[in-house]
Amino acid sequence: MCDSTLRVLLVVGSLREDSATRMVLNAVAARLAAEGCATDLLDLGVEPLPLYNPDTAHEAAAFPGVQARVEAADVLVLGTPDYHGSISSPLKNFLDHFWHEFAGKLFVTLVASHEKGLTALDQLRTVARQCYAWTLPYGVSFVEKGDVRDGQIVNPKLAERLTMVVRDTRVYGAVLARQRAADLAGSESGFLARLRH
Ligand SMILES: Cc1cc2nc3c(=O)[nH]c(=O)nc-3n(C[C@H](O)[C@H](O)[C@H](O)COP(=O)(O)O)c2cc1C
Repeated sequence: MCDSTLRVLLVVGSLREDSATRMVLNAVAARLAAEGCATDLLDLGVEPLPLYNPDTAHEAAAFPGVQARVEAADVLVLGTPDYHGSISSPLKNFLDHFWHEFAGKLFVTLVASHEKGLTALDQLRTVARQCYAWTLPYGVSFVEKGDVRDGQIVNPKLAERLTMVVRDTRVYGAVLARQRAADLAGSESGFLARLRH
């Protein structure tokens, strides 16, 4: 079972109505919730953030609500389509809005792709590194109409991989959340020391 305090924010980075990314993130959210995690799904198609402008981003009407949800999360599950070997612009735009809110947290990465999505997964690892976040040592990719069809996961291998990623999200998410809280409350030096209030 999940550490009851573990809060997971899942971010859907596809705006497409029949998105495979959205379908898989909904399935992951349902499994995490069934294992006792507190889940929150941010669908950027439904709750868009304006295009990031460092001069004005913090004044946008949508910003404080999303920031509070990112701040409250222990783990971020990031889902994106593979667009030209890259992450989608809505997900990148979301990521550009934050950094210290991500520091010390776990990123879990999922990509809808016809080609394993490795370059998009690597880009999410790069963002994590730049923001002092952790990632699981692997990501999960899936193919629309192959692994996922008519709103269902039809490939048992993907179902198995999702079981693994849900387990690792709650276990490693809880380990990192506990250590992050201890480091923020403590007095030792470490990369989170500068985020102490
Ligand atoms: C503009 C655009 C670029 C794409 N580029 C790639 C690509 O480089 N490699 C790939 O495997 N799939 C690519 N695709 C296919 C999408 O990754 C695929 O359709 C995915 O399922 C879309 O995610 P979604 O179903 O969550 O919207 C591209 C699709 C679009 C619309």
